[in-house]
Amino acid sequence: MRTIIEPFRIKTVEPIRQTSPVERSRILEEAGFNLFAINAADILIDLLTDSGTSAMSTAQWAAMMRGDESYAGSESFFRLKAAVQDLTGFRHVIPTHQGRAAERILFTVMCKPGHKVPNNTHFDTTRANIEFTGAEAIDLPVPEAADTQAKLPFKGDMDVQALERLIDAEGAAKIPLVMLTITNNSGGGQPVSMENIEAVSRLARAHGIPFYLDACRFAENAYLIQQRDPAYADWTPKQIAQKMFSLADGCTFSAKKDAFANIGGFLCTNDDRLAQQEKDLLILTEGFPTYGGLAGRDLEAIAVGLQEVLHPDYLRYRIASTAYLGRHIAERGVPIVEPPGAHAIYIDAGRMLPHIPPPEFPGQALAIELYRHAGIRSVEIGSVMFGDKARHELLRLAIPRRVYTQSHIDYVVEAILEVNERKDSLRGVEIVWQPPFLRHFSARFRPLGVLGSNRG
Ligand code: F0G
Repeated sequence: MRTIIEPFRIKTVEPIRQTSPVERSRILEEAGFNLFAINAADILIDLLTDSGTSAMSTAQWAAMMRGDESYAGSESFFRLKAAVQDLTGFRHVIPTHQGRAAERILFTVMCKPGHKVPNNTHFDTTRANIEFTGAEAIDLPVPEAADTQAKLPFKGDMDVQALERLIDAEGAAKIPLVMLTITNNSGGGQPVSMENIEAVSRLARAHGIPFYLDACRFAENAYLIQQRDPAYADWTPKQIAQKMFSLADGCTFSAKKDAFANIGGFLCTNDDRLAQQEKDLLILTEGFPTYGGLAGRDLEAIAVGLQEVLHPDYLRYRIASTAYLGRHIAERGVPIVEPPGAHAIYIDAGRMLPHIPPPEFPGQALAIELYRHAGIRSVEIGSVMFGDKARHELLRLAIPRRVYTQSHIDYVVEAILEVNERKDSLRGVEIVWQPPFLRHFSARFRPLGVLGSNRG
């Protein structure tokens, strides 16, 4: 059969609400044209993020009933630890309430002012947590990543020569760790090749620098390696994931992505001394090291999710569904970051709307119009999010795991194509208020033209 179907059936449903374009124009105005400020009840299809938005399985819900809520030494922790160690082999598994909590603890323990932390591309919370310690977060994507249209298999890779130059220029003592984000979320959801993980690991280790993975989407990265690198065609996604982790000294992980959990994360390390410092800090803000700010039932959901996510049927459907969305809009002239990755499709809004310059935020303008037109929420990943560090003006359509059906995806395709037909009438926006950092969450905007003009 050629049709790729959802490898699950639906047991519980959650209604979603239709609103009219007129209602949505009012909602946008009240939200300061910031989609983070819109109530979820006013969204029809929510592609803001794939984080914490997964549908859990019957096995996960069943496991949650076994949640051991003991303050110390919970059985749920040991089940989580076994699942994480089976996959990663890391000696210490420290639960946290989500990925950024793991980041904060890791960087607080490892970074000082003057330090530099290289990554293929830092996610926004990763960058913010590094900079909060006084260290500098440095992105070293491969040059090929600059061309959103290049159809190369592993555009998430790190530029290994640039890493070498950085280590030579700064000295290893200034670089407390090297990180690789798999998949490269801020770089267009592109996977990192095994060859690149090996090369970065080798280089870091040769200089005695610890090497960490930001492993949020490890299973999707593993599956894309299996699909795109013939050397791994016969490996299972789990075997590939195990090899990726074996090359690192530790990882941060947000269980809200590839563990199908609605909350949770963890920090892993092989370093006993570091683990002790991390656990000491954990107790201050997250909780005792056998629960780390989570309920026992959350630990259970993560333990089961980590196993389910590596199922080849699931990964095949996941990647096919994302590619379907990407292909159907790209075929009709919407420029996307090529090739499609796994968790999201990124529209190159700068290229789609060349009449809107970056200071007028083409990605934000497109996000606003897609919501006004069809009730779809997406997120700008460009100059709003990264200021002058933005490399592209992107609009991300992140696909929650196991949540939307093929007909939802068809609706999204149709909406994007309709907006694309009258793209020349879209206008940019200006910022009228912003906070000192992470401005994309709460900035307020004003459109520089009539909203939804020429609506046809
Ligand atoms: N690293 C990456 C690559 C991420 O994508 C995220 C979150 C984090 C770290 C932080 O994890 O949210 O559990 O604290 N990304 C979400 C997103 C928010 O929408 O891409 P967290």
